Amino acid sequence: MPAHRVVATSQVPWREEPNIAGFRSKTLFVDSPSGASANLYWVPPDHGVQVMFRRPTRHFHRTVVERSFALGGDYPHWEFRNPDDTTGELIVFRRGTFMDRPPLSLHGLQPEPRSQVGATVLNWDTGGGVGLDDPRAKDETVTVPFRDYERYNIPFTSPRIFRHDEQPWRAHPRVSGWKAKALAPRHGTAAEVALVALPADAVSKQAVPGTHERRWLFVVSGSLRVAIADADGEHRYELTEEDFLEWFQPAKLRFDHGTISDVGAVVLCIGHQLS
Ligand SMILES: [Fe+2]
Repeated sequence: MPAHRVVATSQVPWREEPNIAGFRSKTLFVDSPSGASANLYWVPPDHGVQVMFRRPTRHFHRTVVERSFALGGDYPHWEFRNPDDTTGELIVFRRGTFMDRPPLSLHGLQPEPRSQVGATVLNWDTGGGVGLDDPRAKDETVTVPFRDYERYNIPFTSPRIFRHDEQPWRAHPRVSGWKAKALAPRHGTAAEVALVALPADAVSKQAVPGTHERRWLFVVSGSLRVAIADADGEHRYELTEEDFLEWFQPAKLRFDHGTISDVGAVVLCIGHQLS
């Protein structure tokens, strides 16, 4: 496996998502053997007609931690505190909505309202079987009917779902003049999540060594000039909006070639804070 990889997602065509009816997707990575993956999902307007035939549906995942960051559009989605909660709470994902979903949280779709303009969501998880049409879903995902459901003797959990602009930016912990906000802590094999904001003409002497785990970033807005040093030399990249970069040991992310960003950037960071 190469020690780093860049995906300019805006140049990648959408394909039918095999594991979720009605969705289209672009895959950023798939980890084997864990089945962990990151995908951009496109949700069509009126989504729900395709999967529910106007009946509500809900389920929980047994072991997988799932996280997402909405990039645009509107995606109505429901949270249920437990099987007895058949009404659920409607949450509409819009640009900047972040979700940290632990295992054993019950969620799903009601027939109304449905997405008006569709949505684009960056989603990543710690294992396979999360999509209902994934063959691994038979072990990982439990569909819970709205009536005559089983008595599950398990502690149901709730996700944290919020718009990131409800959280204040704080001074970056290590780089003067930068801002950061923590979105989620580490949970098992799900690494910590942060947004980092760089000012125009940002500079840094920080280096971010790869680890045995995947460290990755996604440029939410702006642009970013980076170098990756690995066994076969140094590679420089001009990253722009919706670009993805991952790196592993022995690769090292470096910024020591002058200004990092001409116009500033907001970067979603998994397993690091660009430092
Ligand atoms: Fe799910």
